[in-house]
Formats: sequence, C-alpha cells, structure tokens
Amino acid sequence: MQRRRFLSSAAALALTPLLLRQAFAAGSANMSEMDHAAMGHGPVDAPPPAVGFDLPSGQPLPAPRLLANQAGPGRFVAALQAAPAELPLLPGNAATVFWAYNGQVPGPAIVAQEGDEVDIAFANHLTQPTTVHWHGMPVPADQDGGPHYPVAPQGLRHYRFTLPADSAASYWYHPHPHGLTGRQAYMGLAGVFVVKSKQDPLAHLPEQWLVLSDLKLDTAGQIAENSMADRHDGREGQFVLVNGAWRPLVTLAEGERRRWRVWNATSARILRIAVPAHDLMLVGTDGGLIAAPQPVTELLLSPGERAEVVITGRFRAGQPAGVLARPYHRGKAMSAEQTDDILLASLERAALGKTNSAPVPGRLRDIQPLPAPQVRRELRISENMADMNAMFLINGKTFDMNRADFTGKAGEVEEWTLISEAHMDHPFHIHGTRFQVTARTEDGVWREEPFLAWRDVVNVPAGESVRLRLRFERPGLWMYHCHILEHEDAGMMGMIKVEA
Ligand code: C2O
Ligand code: CU
Ligand code: CU
Repeated sequence: MQRRRFLSSAAALALTPLLLRQAFAAGSANMSEMDHAAMGHGPVDAPPPAVGFDLPSGQPLPAPRLLANQAGPGRFVAALQAAPAELPLLPGNAATVFWAYNGQVPGPAIVAQEGDEVDIAFANHLTQPTTVHWHGMPVPADQDGGPHYPVAPQGLRHYRFTLPADSAASYWYHPHPHGLTGRQAYMGLAGVFVVKSKQDPLAHLPEQWLVLSDLKLDTAGQIAENSMADRHDGREGQFVLVNGAWRPLVTLAEGERRRWRVWNATSARILRIAVPAHDLMLVGTDGGLIAAPQPVTELLLSPGERAEVVITGRFRAGQPAGVLARPYHRGKAMSAEQTDDILLASLERAALGKTNSAPVPGRLRDIQPLPAPQVRRELRISENMADMNAMFLINGKTFDMNRADFTGKAGEVEEWTLISEAHMDHPFHIHGTRFQVTARTEDGVWREEPFLAWRDVVNVPAGESVRLRLRFERPGLWMYHCHILEHEDAGMMGMIKVEA
C-alpha cells in the first residue's frame, strides 16, 4: 500500500525530527507535571529497546473470558472494576504490574443481545480518575464515559443503556479520562463488547475472537512509560498480543470455515493483516455486518477499528503459515517504520474432524445509504511541530473541554470531509453515532467507496481526504478525535453539540 505523502520532499521530512527535538526542548519549561513525568524515559529515534527476553509463545489461542451476566434474559447486569493487577508474564520473573478490569488483560468480554438493558456497576480502584467509554456503542451522552463524567479514585457509578435493534456488532470498552487515556489503556485497561442479534445470518459458523493489543516492557519486565517518540508517533511496544498472548497458535482444518472478529486495540499501530494462502471474506466492520461478503487479501485495521472476516482454511505448501501484520508506513517522525512482517499468531493445519464448512450467505444485512446531507462540514487535520503544547490539531485547534466546535441537530444527515494536511496517518473516530464512508482520495484522486458499511473509525492517511455521512440520533456533546491515543491525549480532539 504505497501512497503519495503530503509534503513528501526529503528536505521537509528530514527537518521534522530536528524541529521536534527543538520543540520538546523549548517547550519543557511550560509543560504540565504529567508531561514531565512521561519525558526522558526513552531515546529519540529508536525503536522500542529490546527487552532481552521473549514472552512465552506458541500456546493455543486463549479465548477471552466472559463477564458473567447476573440477570436473566433481556438484561445484562454485571460489575467491573479497574485496579492494579499483577500478572505473571515471564516464568521465573517478577509479575508484571498492569491496570486491569476485573484482574484480566484484556478485560472480561461482554456479550449481550440486541434489546438488552445493560447495567454495569463500575468501581475505580486506581489512584487517578477514569471512565469507561463504550466505543462505538449507541448509548446516551451521559453514559458514554467521556472526559466530562470522570469517576474519582474509589468512586462508583453505574453505566446504563439499552441496546437498540440493528446494533449487533463488535464493540469495545476502554478508559477515556481527560489526558490520561493513553496510559490507562497501555497499562491494560480495555475489553471487548459483542452485541448479538437473534437474526444472525452467520450464526452457524463457529467464532474466534482476536483482540490485538500492544505491550511495551522495560528490561525489568514492567510496563514501560512512553518515550518522546511514543508521545509523538504513538506508542508501539516490542510485543503485539492476541487475546493477551504472544504469538499464540491457531489451528484450522483444510476447508474449515470460521468467523473471526478482530479488534485493533493497540494505541497506535495500523495493522495490515494478512493470512497468506487462506481465503478471507470481509463480512463486517465496526458497526456490524456489511450487506454482502467481500473477498479480501488483506485487512487494514487502524487503532480502534474492528472487522469480521470469514476465514476458510486453504493450506498450500511453501506459504508462511500465520496471521501476519504486513509492513505499513504511517509517517512516523521519531521512530523507525515497520519494515518486516510481524507474526501475530501461527496457524497450524488441524486434522479433518467435525469441521464446519457451511457456506456464507450472499446477503448478510440490509444497509440503506444515508440520504443527501442537510449539513456539510470540513475538518482539517494538521500537525504543528513548532508548538509543543499544540502539536496535533483539528481545524487549527487542540481540544478544550469547554468548547463545542460545531452545533448539530439530532436526526439531520451530515457530510463530513476529513482533510489531512498532516505527515502522519491519523485514524479518526466519532462518538455517539456510526457513519458511512462515501469516498476517499488515493494519491489525491477521489474514489467512491466500493460498498456500504457502518464504521466509527476511519484512517485518514497523510495528505489524503475521506468523506463520510452520518446522522446523530441522540442529543448531547459528542467527541471526535484521532484514535492514536497519544494524539488524543495531546488534544487532537473536538466536540459537536447535538441539539434535540
Ligand atoms: Cu475508543 Cu473516544 O474512543
Ligand atoms: Cu509531528
Ligand atoms: Cu493522530
């Protein structure tokens, strides 16, 4: 996936790291305490330092553990708590201290049905405020876990919402407190939330879930703080985990068909996922099933994004057997780009047993295109390397909790054009609604989107543009931001006030 780079002259790019170092040096006098604490932990221009050990690998892929429902049908009632947890990652070493939901990394998986009333009692046992954001889910603004509703240390609150019809999809939950999201997420706080439908055309296929997350350790086996490069480029660690395991083993029989749900829960990686030789069919995106299956050879998942694919085992001699993340260049300024494949999971041929090879129906869901927009907006995404306190901008501004950047009306169709004037890719996420991408540029040339899909994250590649349609149904203050969590924390975020 080679693309034109905005301002791709070698001179402009070469200058960037230098300006950056100057900006970091000049800005250090007026940086907040939190910024300060996070500085000085890592070398500039370096990949994450080798930790000198590997994690255990090759174990069968663990399935995410489920959060037990304490209620009967029609309701989902449970308790979640965020607290430090020591988990043994390395045999013979001290346990690694994570921050975890219910002691698990990833957090317990929630499975509910369309129509369910959800009531999650949340307890914060961290020493800093947090929230639980229900990423992509159709919930009221005051239940969305945004930074305006912090839960204080030792605080408790309930999150209550009802899952509407047509909401079946693969969502997730993670913290969203003001300025602290990146750290809380990389310390281990994130889990998945799957909403199921009673009319699921793929219910006959066995499911396997792949929650991809990033782990960056220091040489003592503890979770490393962000380096300057992490804070600029977005954090990447030495290990990409699948369901909390490093390079686990997936077994599949020849011709066996399985439905995979895949989450990119990393802070910043854009994952170009491939499973060489095997057949992949895209069947769903962030907002659930698409209208008809699309054969694909790769899956480009940016941070926060999800996909559903049906994989059919096709073993061919000489093909690398595994789930890979292919090299993808995302315009990093302070750290090296990915040059090699990353093995996410190894794939082994299982004996033909009672495997499922049932076909995938040609029609999956009825998705209607959103009608012509009543409102059009432009959002320009840019970077300003010269201002340490305002490096990542939307329409020239950084986030202000007390400023709504736009006002909209519930029920109106809007068209947003996201225009990148940046050197890096910035995956864009909108709260409170889902959207349909209608067109994107490729090397500056507009191309219509080939199929309808509901999404809540879309990557905006450096120098390119993306056009989408959406309709807010629920009033309130809704955020939109870059889902590279370090950029979000640095203020690459804005708000729209939606009136009833
Ligand atoms: Cu996944 Cu505003 O977040
Ligand atoms: Cu920059
Ligand atoms: Cu960004």
